Amino acid sequence: MLEDIPQFELNSGANMPAIGIGCWMGRVGEGDHVSQMIKRALELGYRHIDTAANYGNEESVGKGLRNAAVPRKEIFLTTKLAGEDHGRVEAALDISLQKLGEEYVDLYLMHWPQALHPTGEALRPEESPTFIETWRAMEGLLDTGKVKSIGVSNFSIKTLAVLLQHARVVPAINQVEAHPCLPQNDLLAFCLSRGILLTAYSPVGKFKYASDPTVVDIARNNGCTEAQVLLSWGVQRGTVVIPKTEKEERLKENLKVVRLTSVQMHSLDALHRKPGMHRSVCGFHSAELGGSCFGWTYEQLGWNMSVGGVVDSGV
Ligand SMILES: NC(=O)c1ccc[n+]([C@@H]2O[C@H](COP(=O)([O-])OP(=O)(O)OC[C@H]3O[C@@H](n4cnc5c(N)ncnc54)[C@H](OP(=O)(O)O)[C@@H]3O)[C@@H](O)[C@H]2O)c1
Repeated sequence: MLEDIPQFELNSGANMPAIGIGCWMGRVGEGDHVSQMIKRALELGYRHIDTAANYGNEESVGKGLRNAAVPRKEIFLTTKLAGEDHGRVEAALDISLQKLGEEYVDLYLMHWPQALHPTGEALRPEESPTFIETWRAMEGLLDTGKVKSIGVSNFSIKTLAVLLQHARVVPAINQVEAHPCLPQNDLLAFCLSRGILLTAYSPVGKFKYASDPTVVDIARNNGCTEAQVLLSWGVQRGTVVIPKTEKEERLKENLKVVRLTSVQMHSLDALHRKPGMHRSVCGFHSAELGGSCFGWTYEQLGWNMSVGGVVDSGV
C-alpha cells in the first residue's frame, strides 16, 4: 500500500507522502475518536499524520500510533507550534513530543505567524517574539534531532517574503487552506519558485461543494468519488493533501488518487471563477471576522481577501 501513495521530496531532502490524515476533529480533544482514527488509518496504509498542539489531541495521536504498531521510520508525523508558545519554542516542542510519546517529529510547523499572549490576545507584528525570531528558534531545533524538517502554516506571500529575507533555512512546507474553490494560485507559484512545498488543508473543502456539477461529472467519468476528484486535483497540481475523516470507507477512499486529464484539471482550475464559488470553507476569511483573524488584519496577514468575503485574485 505504501508504494501506491505518491511522495514529494522536501527541500530538506526528506520524502513526504502526498496524502496524510488530518487530525483536527472540529473541536479540541476528542481522545478515543482520534486514537481509533489514527490506528485504523495506519492499518489501511496511511503513513502521514497531521496534528497540532492546538488540537489538544497529541496524546491520542501517540496512542493510535502505538496501537497500530507500524515502524516509526515508515511514518511522517507533523505537529505545530501554538501561538502562545512562540517565546519558548524548544520547551513547547518537548511537551508535544512527550504527549506524542515520540523522540522526534518529521515536520514542525509554526501554526500561524501571530504570537499570542497566554490570554490568547495577539502581539502586534513588530512585537517580540516576531515570527522571524520564532523562526530562528525553530531553525535551532534542526540541530537537536528532535525535528527532521521545519515549516510554516497560514503564511501569505507577504509574510513569507519577510521571513525569507531573514531565514537561514527555507521553510520546507507552507500549510494553507487550498481546494478548487480557493486554489491559492499566486501563493502556490511563489512557494514552488522558492522550493517550498504547499500542503493543502481542508482539501475536500469540508465537502461543502462536492455536489457541484463539474465535480460530479468528473467523478462519474472517472468511476471515482467526488472526494477523490478534489484530492486528485490537489496532488496532481503538486500539493500535499491532508483530508480528515473518521469513517472507514472514506479513509479508504481518500487514500486513492486518480489520474485526471488536462481538460478535467482545467475545469477544476476554473471552478472558483463560477459566480459565488470562490470561497474559504474554514471561516478564517469571513465578513464576521471584521477583516482580521486571530488579532491581525488581513492586510497584516497579507491575505488577498476583502472584508465582505474572498476576492478572486484573477489568477
Ligand atoms: N494549519 C491550519 O491552520 C489548519 C486549519 C484547518 C485544518 N488543518 C488540517 O487539515 C485537515 C483537514 O482539514 P479539514 O478537516 O478542515 O477539512 P477537509 O479534510 O476538507 O474536510 C473534512 C470534512 O469532510 C468530510 N469528509 C472527508 N472525507 C470525505 C469523503 N471522502 N466523503 C465525504 N465527506 C468527507 C469529513 O467528515 P467525516 O469526518 O464525518 O467523514 C469532515 O466533515 C485538518 O484535520 C487539520 O489536520 C490545518
